[in-house]
Amino acid sequence: MPALVLLGAQWGDEGKGKATDLLGGSVDYVVRYQGGNNAGHTVVVGDQKYALHLLPSGILSPECTPVIGNGVVVDPSVLFSELNGLNERGVDTSKLLISGNAHIITPYNVTVDKVTERFLGKRKIGTTGRGIGPTYADKINRVGIRIQDLYDESILTQKVEAALDGKNQLLTKVFNRRAIEAGQVVEELLSYADRLKPYVADTVLVLNQALEQDKVVLFEGGQGTLLDIDHGTYPFVTSSNPTAGGACTGAGVGPTKISRVIGILKAYTTRVGSGPFPTELFDEDGEALRRIGGERGVTTGRDRRCGWFDAVIARYATRVNGLTDFFLTKLDVLTGWEQIPVCVAYEIDGKRVEELPYSQTDFHHAKPIYETLPGWSEDITKAKTFADLPKNAQNYVKALEEMSGAPISAIGVGPGRDETIEINSFL
Ligand code: GDP
Ligand code: IMO
Ligand code: MG
Repeated sequence: MPALVLLGAQWGDEGKGKATDLLGGSVDYVVRYQGGNNAGHTVVVGDQKYALHLLPSGILSPECTPVIGNGVVVDPSVLFSELNGLNERGVDTSKLLISGNAHIITPYNVTVDKVTERFLGKRKIGTTGRGIGPTYADKINRVGIRIQDLYDESILTQKVEAALDGKNQLLTKVFNRRAIEAGQVVEELLSYADRLKPYVADTVLVLNQALEQDKVVLFEGGQGTLLDIDHGTYPFVTSSNPTAGGACTGAGVGPTKISRVIGILKAYTTRVGSGPFPTELFDEDGEALRRIGGERGVTTGRDRRCGWFDAVIARYATRVNGLTDFFLTKLDVLTGWEQIPVCVAYEIDGKRVEELPYSQTDFHHAKPIYETLPGWSEDITKAKTFADLPKNAQNYVKALEEMSGAPISAIGVGPGRDETIEINSFL
């Protein structure tokens, strides 16, 4: 059986952490394949709440081996503070594996992220400021620093110097900043080497061998489909591929190995940072979704922009990821609305459009066309089966499923592990 991909179907924060954690107890490996500590995944186990940024959510399941794949960008200081935080709470993190090919977010990448955003002014992307974009840029420019470089001081020094040559010109002459000293960076990076060493592994080999032995591997995406560098709302995106194909390149596993692709889909929509968002609400409904849904960023503490469910986006996510299932989250947040609008298509320059337009200009002009579904007022947080849901909640789920193009196999009715309705088993 095997390899499952679990990814965000919207603009991130769909509840991937909760969904991964739920499956974590039944899988052998949970693998992050892209992104870095721009992610913020919340997992609630009993009365304990964990906020994970870089570590795969499977780290909370003792049987499971968590893996940071080659496609991830790693800030070692963040990694260590996350590990320390978990260890202090009694979580065993010793099974963690990190790809030697994963790129390191260096202090200068973080600096470049921040100054670039500042210089973009009103045109800024609204990044998390964690150095994600500049680290992937260095990777593509072939001046990146990889985890394995920490174990050859001479190569590390040459690479840091090469990366800094151009950047220091930019920092001093364009951005009016002080130059960054290569020696200091090398010293800082080398200070991480010993502690990282026991985790570093040939994760491609480990994962492929595990799959040959019929072990179950779950790939956990960061961010979401609409934040994908190729398939998202460019340029208001992150700098990696959260979409399903990213799992193959970001972990070194072939597409023939992947048996299931699960899209995590919030029952309404949120987005953090800049960029178009057709169903965004600026009224009390938006405020209520934010308040009831607790829509505040786990990483940056920013309020999330909130809006109604957008079926055009869900259909798009089904297509670009080849989704086999949806996990619908936060249905409980919609309890109490008499009527719930759902965006079924867009109006763009006077025309009805059913599918996501590829043109950025068109998408910026897209106005949602809503159908309104009757709401429910009963508490649904204790529902264990689909039949336990009030009729109108059932109809809301069925309507979303029909519009979105893949079966809804699980429904979240609360943040906790057990606040989930399982319809079709994922394993
Ligand atoms: P991720 O980045 O996709 O892992 O999502 P986040 O953790 O950033 O945001 C999702 C938030 O919703 C977290 O606070 C979760 O605890 C919470 N959550 C997840 N699923 C549900 C659900 O079904 N109902 C409710 N009320 N909260 C949920
Ligand atoms: P999870 O995994 C929501 C957004 C940022 C910004 C854009 C680029 O918790 O769903 P970056 O720092 O990646 O260069 O910022 O992407 N962004 C996210 N939004 N959830 C996330 O992760 C995000 N990670 C990045 O807000 O708009
Ligand atoms: Mg998040």
